[in-house]
Parts: sequence; C-alpha cells; structure tokens
Amino acid sequence: MCGIVGYIGHGDKKQVLIDGLRELEYRGYDSAGIAMMDESGITHYKAVGKLINLENKASEYSSNSYGVGIGHTRWATHGKPNEVNAHPHLGEYSFVVHNGIIENYQELKKELQDEGVRFLSQTDTEVIVHLFEKFNNQLDNPFQAFEQTIAKLRGAYATLLITKKDPETIYFAKNGSPMIAGKDDHGSVYFGSSDAALIGKAKEVTYLTDGDYGFARSGTIHLFHAGESMVPAMVPLKSDKIYAQKEGFRFFMEKEIYEQSSVISDTMLGRVLDDEIHFDEIPDGLFDGIREIKVCACGTSYHAALASSYLFERLSQIRASVEIASEFRYKEPLLRTDTLFVVISQSGETADTLEALKMAKLAGIKTLALCNVDNSSIVREADATILLRAGIEKGVASTKAFATQMMVLWMLALYLAKDKMTAEKYRFDLEAMRLIPGLAKVNERIHEKVKRLSKRYLHGHGFFFIGRDIFYPLALEGALKLKEISYLHAEGYPSGEMKHGPIALADSELFTIALMPQTLLYDKTKSNIEELSARDSTICAISPKSFELADDMIRTSEQKHPMCEFFEMMVILQLLSMEVAVRRGNDVDMPRNLAKSVTVE
Ligand code: AGP
Repeated sequence: MCGIVGYIGHGDKKQVLIDGLRELEYRGYDSAGIAMMDESGITHYKAVGKLINLENKASEYSSNSYGVGIGHTRWATHGKPNEVNAHPHLGEYSFVVHNGIIENYQELKKELQDEGVRFLSQTDTEVIVHLFEKFNNQLDNPFQAFEQTIAKLRGAYATLLITKKDPETIYFAKNGSPMIAGKDDHGSVYFGSSDAALIGKAKEVTYLTDGDYGFARSGTIHLFHAGESMVPAMVPLKSDKIYAQKEGFRFFMEKEIYEQSSVISDTMLGRVLDDEIHFDEIPDGLFDGIREIKVCACGTSYHAALASSYLFERLSQIRASVEIASEFRYKEPLLRTDTLFVVISQSGETADTLEALKMAKLAGIKTLALCNVDNSSIVREADATILLRAGIEKGVASTKAFATQMMVLWMLALYLAKDKMTAEKYRFDLEAMRLIPGLAKVNERIHEKVKRLSKRYLHGHGFFFIGRDIFYPLALEGALKLKEISYLHAEGYPSGEMKHGPIALADSELFTIALMPQTLLYDKTKSNIEELSARDSTICAISPKSFELADDMIRTSEQKHPMCEFFEMMVILQLLSMEVAVRRGNDVDMPRNLAKSVTVE
C-alpha cells in the first residue's frame, strides 16, 4: 500500500513531509520521494529503499519559507522499485504523487505518447501529471485542468499534485484509496493516507470520500464533489499513533481481514476486463508448450496452491500438481520441460520456496512467481511475476495475501481457459469474480456472531476443519489459522476421509468446523457430517443452508459459484481464529514461535 503526504505552510517542508512518510512506513514500501516548492522554485528527491536514503539525498535542502510539498512511499504494483518509478512523477512544470491503480492507464498513456509526450517511468501514475499539463496548456487554468484530468481516470486513486503554474496550491482527488486532509491553528494544511501521518500536526481533519477532489490554498481546503462546491466536514484528530496505524482496528490482522475487499479489487484492477482476463506481467510464450502446471509453496501459500490445482484442471483443463517446497527440495523430483513451475509466496523470501524455484530453473523449466513483494529474492529469480497487490501484510497469520493469491490463481486459471470453456461458462466465472470484493467484505453481523460463539471453542481435545474439493484446502487454511494464533490443535481434513480413521476421535469434545457449500457436493459433505454428529462430535456448520444437527450454525449467503462461497467462508474462518485467540489472550499479530517470513530451512 503506498503512502502519500502533503503540506502547505511556513514550516520546514522537507521535515514535515519526511516525518509524515515515516508515520506511514507501516503501510510498506520499497522507494520514496518528496517535492517542495517555494519562492526559490521546485525541488524534488527520490530514493530506493528506506526513508533514511531519501533523507540523505535531501540533506542539503532546507527552506522555511511559505510553500507547498508532497511526498510518497511506494509499494510497487506497476514497474520495478527503482528511482525512475518512485514518486513524485514530474511533467514540464508539475509533480504528482498517487496511491492506487489507474485501471485505464495504458490507453491514456498511448493517447499521450501519440501526441508526443515522453514517459520516463513504467508506472500508471505518470499519466496523471502529463494529462494535467496537456489540459492546462489548453485551458491555462490549473483547477479546470485538474478537474478534467480526474474525470479521465478509472480505477483507484488518492493523488496530490503541485504545479509551478499555481505555486501556493495543492490539488487533491480521492477515489477508492484513502486520503485525509487536515488543518492546524496556524493556517497550515496537511494531507495523508491515514491519520497517522497527521497526528501531532493537524488539529482537525476531514476524511475525504470517493469522488471528492479540490485544492488547498492559504489555509483553506476547497472541496468539490461531482462539480459542486462542498463544505468539508472537519472533526478533531485522534492522538494515538499505533491506534491510527491500525486504523481503528484492534490488531493488524483484523485490519487486514477488513482490507481484503479493497485489496482484492486492487488485485483485479486492469486484469479482470469486461470480457476477458489480462495480465500485463505475462511475457509472450510463457505458456507455449505447457502441458502441466506444478505449483509449489509453503504454509498458507501452499493451501492456495492446493486449491488452484482444482481450478487449473477443472477450468483450464491443464494437468496440475502441487508440492510442499520443503518436501520438493529433497524428493529428487522428475521434472519435464513441458511443465510450468509456479511458486507462491507472500514475502518472496521463504527459503524452501526459493530453493525449490532454483531447482526448477536448474532443470530448465519455465517459472512464474505469485508474490506480494516486488524485487524480493523469489521475484528476482523467477522468469515472470504476477504481483498480488495486497499491500504490506503485518499480521504473521496471513489473510489478505491468501485472499489475493486465490484471486490471482483463479484469474490465471480462467486466463488459460479462454479457448477451453464455452462462452457462457467463461462469462459465468467472470461475473462471479466481480462479486468477490463484496463477498470478502466483513459482515458485521457475522463478525458479532463469531465473537459470541468463539467462547465455546477455547478448549476441547482438538478441532477438525473439514471440506471437499476446493473447500478441503480452505479447511487446511482454517485449521492453520487457528493453530497459529490460538495455539489449539486443529487439523484440516477432506470430509470424505473422516471415516477412514479420524472419526475414532469423535466425541463431544471434538470440535468439527464443517464447510458445507451449497454449490459443490453439499449432500456428500452433509452425510459425512451426519456421521460425526451421530458420534456426538460438536459441529459448527458454515453453510448457506440450515443444518439441524449443527451445535453452532453460521449462515452464509446463497451463491451460484463455488468460489463465491469459498471467499465468504474464508473470511469467517479468519475471524473465528482471531476471536478464539483474543479470548485466549494471545498476541494475535505476533504469535509465539512464528516469524512473518521463514528465511531459514
Ligand atoms: C501463514 O499464516 C503463515 N504465516 C505461514 O504459513 C506462511 O504462509 C508461510 O511461511 C509461507 O510464507 P510466504 O507466503 O511468505 O512464502
């Protein structure tokens, strides 16, 4: 998730911007930049890596004269993390910073290039500053030019722009990505991606809403929406920084569960098009001659890999196999050159997955990484990478990374299915995909119910999470989430396997979390659960259909596509593990014995 800051005032612009960016570091970034303008002119600095690198580059700059400044920490989604792609992006006489994804940037970029505009970066953001200058050169009116620019953008953006044509003004617009504007008692104006950047500076803030835009000048925020001038609703700013970094949630994990809806939208932007799937990142020929896909990962990423194998075979009709990286490394695998080796990793630094990837490359087979961190070791090693765009994931227990992995894998399966499915079935999946951001949104009523029923699951001699087909990997994931943060023993199991031994454990102290989707093998799953209930196992059923033998019932919505049920149940399992862990007094974000990235064997 990128971070943006803005400032208008008499203070030390550079320090205000750097301090603000430092408060946004928790959002994750791989490069940063600032631009300042006052009567002496416009200056900018950019640096890859941590903020200290930017501070060192800007060390000779100082100015306390009245002026404006904008700053940015970049989490790469389009274009490698390097100085050229770092924000601010500049035109002839303007600078822009942006958080989000401009979905139609390629067509805008082509239009501008056809008109002779030269682009320096690979980013989507750069189209904003060139569009602005194109319109301003025509209109000689920065505000109208900014209005016309914003009207051309599709996708998510929180953007700030400064220009020599209006040196004491910051132009802003918000749609889909967060942005806050604030004021202090001395006529200064501040902008930030979250409260955290403004705490200790602004006294009152306004939380901009989608479609808001305008400009700040001389201590005043001029707000517009759909062409109408609006009075900004100013409220006092909270003062707790850690609380602000969690954006009001109790834990980073909770914040990341609640973010899944919006980050899945980011993952889909520019990829799920009106009638097809598109991946900029897939080089021509990557899939030529491929007759098998082997997916390799660890932990939660392995669960996503396992679920994808069902999708690749069912949708893409490509043979799919799945490997746990630590096992794959030492099993002397038989690899064929008609195999595409896909590795999945949130961090991009997991040692076992990285070594497995190197083995595949040594065997001369093509490799693709699904990863959340650009320029990570795995990204640098793979032939191609599809970024998850989940933003930084601070909770050790992975949630939004898993959600975006599942989204990318489903998109990839459909991308490969284009000429293998009927147009009707292809459209059915595309339409189902568009429902996912809504289905991944936390249902507060269900969250409250999970909070209440979690008190019954604090002991017992173990949990079984069971499901069939793609709900079996989801059951594995639900069990891992519970183990990781509640420290209770839990196993994920295929529903149909319970009678092959595990049912011997069934009694009232054995808790079974049963995934009972309506769209896939419901009756088969139901009969497996009835066998457990008949042996007095305590059943918590998660299903759109009422199941009278359940001791606890969490009702999900009626859906037509299994993947819609998958994402809705995924959120419930994440919430359940978190609420049980809370009741057990555990550290939800940093559970004992665990690291966010396992960079050792
Ligand atoms: C997931 O909740 C765990 N933190 C862990 O299993 C993790 O998924 C695994 O270590 C793989 O990490 P990666 O996705 O960064 O490669």
